[in-house]
Amino acid sequence: MDSILVTGGGELRGEIPIAGAKNACLTLMPATLLSEEPLTLTNAPRLSDIKTMSALLESLGTEITSMQDGKVLTMSSHNIDNLTADYDIVRKMRASILVLGPMLARAGQAVVSLPGGCAIGARPVDLHLKVMRALGAEIELRDGYVHAKASHGLRGATIEFPFVSVGATENALLAATLAKGTTVLKHAAREPEIVDLAQCLIAMGAQIEGHGTSTIIIQGVDRLNGATHAVVTDRIELGTYMLAPAFTGGEVECLGGRIELLEAFCEKLDEAGISVEQTARGLKVKRSNAGIKGINVTTEPFPGFPTDLQAQMMALLCTATGTSMLEEKIFENRFMHAPELGRMGAQIDVNGGVAKVTGVERLRGAPVMATDLRASVSLILAGLGAEGETLVNRVYHLDRGYERVEEKLRSCGAKIERITGQ
Ligand code: UD1
Repeated sequence: MDSILVTGGGELRGEIPIAGAKNACLTLMPATLLSEEPLTLTNAPRLSDIKTMSALLESLGTEITSMQDGKVLTMSSHNIDNLTADYDIVRKMRASILVLGPMLARAGQAVVSLPGGCAIGARPVDLHLKVMRALGAEIELRDGYVHAKASHGLRGATIEFPFVSVGATENALLAATLAKGTTVLKHAAREPEIVDLAQCLIAMGAQIEGHGTSTIIIQGVDRLNGATHAVVTDRIELGTYMLAPAFTGGEVECLGGRIELLEAFCEKLDEAGISVEQTARGLKVKRSNAGIKGINVTTEPFPGFPTDLQAQMMALLCTATGTSMLEEKIFENRFMHAPELGRMGAQIDVNGGVAKVTGVERLRGAPVMATDLRASVSLILAGLGAEGETLVNRVYHLDRGYERVEEKLRSCGAKIERITGQ
């Protein structure tokens, strides 16, 4: 397994291009299953999770052509000849459950293995199943698989989510486009990735209103056509690289960045003493000379502070002045980076869903273990700001979500290299 060696100390200066959003691409790709005509996605990120989704779709019968080194994906699902999403692929990535809705909508049946993914909490799929049942599917759980059937097709329904779920909203949106009649999703997720999915589905001929608000209304149509759609900018990759100069000093411009993707996050950066300037090309970030101030952060569904940036923010606050409190409200087990940061000298007390970070002057490099995708990158950022060498082990999670991370950081002056494992 590969490791990443980071030598801390130097300032970062330069520009970093931000890729298309992994989480948007993973929900846009299954939309191909809804149409016999090709769906082309441009601005796709080059990540192992995208390869996993491609392998899953290909196993169902989708033909995929990749151009521009994987940045343009054309998917054609003329024939869906297999209706089983196999455990061997699904276990690698939780987002695999997003094929359930489109397969049911298109073919009236689907068998999907229960998913795996990052170990950041129990992460059940009960809401996804609730949605499909509400749309008229019969669901059975057997041998680790979801067996779903809608012999007479899906029917529109009013579905009120008990709490916000990005994935369940996406699955509902995908499935409802071809259901008979009207579907109303209440308490729906409002993330930019949901808006991106709705825009792509509309380009394919779907009738959707209210995306970006908590009530989405979908009028089912008989068929969807092909389309070409550009994947929205990855706001989590953006936020991650925006934090990099806050660890090291210097100034980084994140190309393609827009404040409206990350308003709550930008407000927190401002409070912590990090300036963000919108330029014609993206977002330019630097920290104030006074250093980083401790702040309190609570993760929430969009438009709140994203859970996917909590680990990176915690790493930064380890060397802020005073005490910071971080409250994780989305996933119950998402502080696994805390003990690893502790190995670098951080003072973090975790109590249930709240972490208290007492700022220290400096972190020191150490061998650490990457436990999940965002935790991995938080350790790299911490290493860039630390004294000495940090060896981040088990970085396979990183490759699921960050393309060419070493190259992007190195172009701004970071001392970072990949050590290829056996
Ligand atoms: C998506 C993102 C992930 C991000 C998360 C929250 C993708 C591929 N992943 O994950 O990076 O951290 O949104 O912004 O887009 N839940 C249930 N039952 C369900 C579904 C979810 O209890 O059926 C719970 C989850 O365990 C979690 C909460 O709901 O506690 C929110 O999860 P959800 O928004 O669904 O996250 P994902 O779509 O899995």
